[in-house]
Amino acid sequence: MPKITEVKLDLAERSYSIHIGKSLLENALDYIPADLRDTLSDRKVFILYDKNVYPYVQVLDEALAGKAQDIKTYAVKGGEPSKSYNVFQECLDWLLENKVNRQSILIAVGGGVVGDLGGFVASVAMRGIPYIQVPTTLLSQVDSSVGGKTGINTNQGKNLVGSFYQPKAVICDIGTLGTLPERELKSGYAEVVKYGLINDLPFFEWLEENGEKVLALEEEALTHAIKTSCEAKASIVAEDEYEGGTRALLNLGHTFGHALEAAAGYDGRLLHGEGVSIGMLMAFDLSMKMGLCPQEDISRLEAHLTKCNMLTKANEIKPNLKHSAEDLLELMQGDKKMLGAKIGFILTHGIGQAFQTTDVNEEDVVKVVKNSLEGF
Ligand SMILES: NC(=O)c1ccc[n+]([C@@H]2O[C@H](COP(=O)([O-])OP(=O)(O)OC[C@H]3O[C@@H](n4cnc5c(N)ncnc54)[C@H](O)[C@@H]3O)[C@@H](O)[C@H]2O)c1
Ligand SMILES: [Zn+2]
Repeated sequence: MPKITEVKLDLAERSYSIHIGKSLLENALDYIPADLRDTLSDRKVFILYDKNVYPYVQVLDEALAGKAQDIKTYAVKGGEPSKSYNVFQECLDWLLENKVNRQSILIAVGGGVVGDLGGFVASVAMRGIPYIQVPTTLLSQVDSSVGGKTGINTNQGKNLVGSFYQPKAVICDIGTLGTLPERELKSGYAEVVKYGLINDLPFFEWLEENGEKVLALEEEALTHAIKTSCEAKASIVAEDEYEGGTRALLNLGHTFGHALEAAAGYDGRLLHGEGVSIGMLMAFDLSMKMGLCPQEDISRLEAHLTKCNMLTKANEIKPNLKHSAEDLLELMQGDKKMLGAKIGFILTHGIGQAFQTTDVNEEDVVKVVKNSLEGF
């Protein structure tokens, strides 16, 4: 048996386990919750996957062959465009044409895109069928597969249509990361660093020592990083499943990051985690300008990101953004200005001491964004 780490997400009757380890897909049956596994021969299994991860689907398919009543597979193209109304409808049509019923199980295999899409599809098919996440990117293993946020993008923006719908299990096979492009790996690593910055200084210190081992996919370090990240997210989600308060801390670096992503136009020029990496430093910089956070902590964060070859400043985005700091502030405001609401920021008193506020001076925000755009 391979070495398995288990993290439990405690949400009363919606509780589930996240299984982390190598070669889990070969033994996928072991990680399907007992109530579903024991009745698998009466259930149809629908595997929705990103076509870039087909080899892992074959392994999963083989592990379940003959155990379920029937197994159907459906591929969607990799990348953000698959989180659309069109693909959402295609997935539902596929389920309905194959006579999905409330006993059916959907398994989503891929990164955050297929996880978010698959979760949303599962949440509305027959008013909700059980689903299992098999995340295959570091970002999805430490973040998007945990916590039950599902959804698709619309012309009006990202993730504006979706649901809160928890999976029955997450099977996090770290072996799948072997084929993940390095840039995607580093994008996911930004979210790992984020957990240290939010409320776990010892984890950040551990990453300072071991971050390069995580990025080199060394099994022990990688498992520890994913486990700690999942535990951090699980505990925040258990406290605030529907994002009424604390869950917003997970958005550290994201107010800035999302604006950068929007400015870059989601054309692959800037990956989500790259925006978060730059955005976390901006959040620290803003905190320092407001007299909340010592310079030393910013230097430490910047040193760590630089050591791991992560993006730290908006001027490193290539080709350069054509936007001014004021343009980016407007992107951050989005429809909030119209509604008379203030932008929410996650600021910090230092590494491991993040907090949420709307009490921020716009001139300071513009200064921080300007520094990042100019590379200071
Ligand atoms: N639900 C949440 O709580 C939550 C949290 C964070 C992010 N998200 C969402 O997650 C999405 C981003 O997720 P992502 O970064 O995983 O992107 P992704 O799913 O687009 O995957 C990134 C790229 O890697 C490819 N890929 C995936 N696994 C691979 C593997 N093992 N080997 C080779 N290639 C592989 C994909 O085809 C794609 O091209 C965004 O849509 C974001 O909104 C959701
Ligand atoms: Zn994120």
